[in-house]
Amino acid sequence: MEVALYTNDSKERVREAVDMVDLVSSRTELRKAGASRFTGLCPFHDERSPSFGINPGEKVYYCFGCQASGDAFTFVMETEGVDFKGAIELLADRYKVALELEDEDPRAAEQRQRRERLLELLERTATYYARQLWESREAQRAREYLTQRGLQEGALRQFRVGYAPSAWDTVLTATMRAGFKATELWDAGLLQSNEKTGRKYDRFRSQIIFPLADSRGRVRGFAGRTLGGEGDRRPKYVNSPESDHFHKRSQLFAADLARSAAAKAGTVVVAEGYTDVIAMHQVGVRNSVCIMGTSLTEEQVAELARLAPVVQLALDSDSAGQAAMLRAAKVAAGRKLELRVVPLPKGEDPAELVQREGGEGLARRIAQSVPFVRFRVLRALEAGDLSDAEGKDRVLTELRGIFATLGPSVMRDELLRIAADRMDLSTELLNSLLAAQRGPVGNDAAQQPQGAAQRVPAAPLGRREKQERTFLELCIALPDLGGPALAELDLDADLATPALRRAAVHLREHLSAPTEALDEDEQLTALVRALAVRAAGMEHASAAQFRAERLQLQLHRIERDIAAARARDEPVTELAQRRSATQAQIGRAMEQVMEEGTNRD
Ligand code: UTP
Ligand code: MN
Repeated sequence: MEVALYTNDSKERVREAVDMVDLVSSRTELRKAGASRFTGLCPFHDERSPSFGINPGEKVYYCFGCQASGDAFTFVMETEGVDFKGAIELLADRYKVALELEDEDPRAAEQRQRRERLLELLERTATYYARQLWESREAQRAREYLTQRGLQEGALRQFRVGYAPSAWDTVLTATMRAGFKATELWDAGLLQSNEKTGRKYDRFRSQIIFPLADSRGRVRGFAGRTLGGEGDRRPKYVNSPESDHFHKRSQLFAADLARSAAAKAGTVVVAEGYTDVIAMHQVGVRNSVCIMGTSLTEEQVAELARLAPVVQLALDSDSAGQAAMLRAAKVAAGRKLELRVVPLPKGEDPAELVQREGGEGLARRIAQSVPFVRFRVLRALEAGDLSDAEGKDRVLTELRGIFATLGPSVMRDELLRIAADRMDLSTELLNSLLAAQRGPVGNDAAQQPQGAAQRVPAAPLGRREKQERTFLELCIALPDLGGPALAELDLDADLATPALRRAAVHLREHLSAPTEALDEDEQLTALVRALAVRAAGMEHASAAQFRAERLQLQLHRIERDIAAARARDEPVTELAQRRSATQAQIGRAMEQVMEEGTNRD
């Protein structure tokens, strides 16, 4: 955790003083779109019609196009490219608030200073390595190697690629001369020690160095790549050791450099290695990052979601790359993140592709990316043995899991036809085989609603989700009605959308100030902000409208109960009566809403 520099009280006073309309207007022209809502063209992505909105009361913004969301602080961080400290200082200056420094206890102060020095040390070391690459004779081989891999000086400099000399102590002596202690170098992960003698020496030697910066561009560690000379038995890549300032698994290489391009494009391209990313940036694909050969982690997925709503996986088509993709899909499931797969030639990574076909070749492949589910189906068909019934059954089992995640759609239909064709079955037969014994076994069962509802065609989620959203927005807009209604709700039964269930839980506690107390959960934060921004535009909402939406939820629930009862062959008369009663009530509420509308105009 970052050590606070200014007091929380300072932060709150700045927040109070900010005029959100004024602040955001400096970046995009805003128009009033309701009593307490303004909209405009999104400053975070290219668009023709406004999908960006702010709620000046809550002082939050949200873009329905690129999902950018936040408060005054993040707005300044994103638009000015500064960190939190920079943002609070800028805002304090603009809105005339005096900041107070945290009265840190001596230990915290010491820790903060220690951290700052570590980061400074890492920063200097990155500069040192980069200079070595371009200036030292010894680095000749490294330069040649990089050139031969098709990487050009401009891109290498932008990524601050460097070279660690072969001597045992260049970094050690250079930085100690600059006033850093050996213990600090050790803590920064720049040294290693001889197991027998305990002597410390440079960790990176005779290696090409890739600085690993965090999403704000601060160097946290390094990756060193051997040049593979004779007698060099070291692994191809060596990283800084894990520490409290460097976790390889939460890093996304080049997230800092890709941020604005990804926000603009609305997509982020994910490759496996450093050279891939550098090659891609070099040919203008700047919305690209890499996962450093690891399988995608939760933290990396969260970071990807912050960069763009669509993720295009450009991973090797070898089995490791494929496993990484499957894993990515697992981690991404449940997030509002669209996964696509970029088809790469067999055995080629993006860096090689760029070298062979140039930027156009890469751009073409990226444009050919397919939805992940399509990729999975095609792959199951390719990998399986379709020559006999047994092989087909195995493929069928795999396809069943994949199709279970697909609602009725044109995509499903198309994939069904492709699969039927390859398996030499009629689409009808394949469809019924896929539907058979789709029990709670199998990995994908978790993505289905639990219980009887599983076998029941519920109302299309799109429409239901919309209605559930509207209901929650109305709860915010009309808290007097929303509060009791939320308290009454049986979340699992009344709301079908898991994310909205979580939003409802949050709103139960925080209805009067919905966007507060949200820091931890990014997804929830974005969702609640979106709800709050829309709610701000509902100043004409009436009790009748609220009632209508509340009844809609009830109607869905009854419909689901009916379907479940039918599936169990139980009588539904009573439920059906309740359904028509509810429908009638909705009708009356709607009439009232219309009347109110005519009276107002
Ligand atoms: P690759 O083996 O594909 O490396 O590993 P690469 O990026 O193409 O490297 P060059 O072009 O041969 O130099 C992909 C990524 O996996 C991570 C690195 O991030 C690498 O870029 N990796 C690989 C490691 O961390 N350690 C290793 O030993 C190997
Ligand atoms: Mn590679």
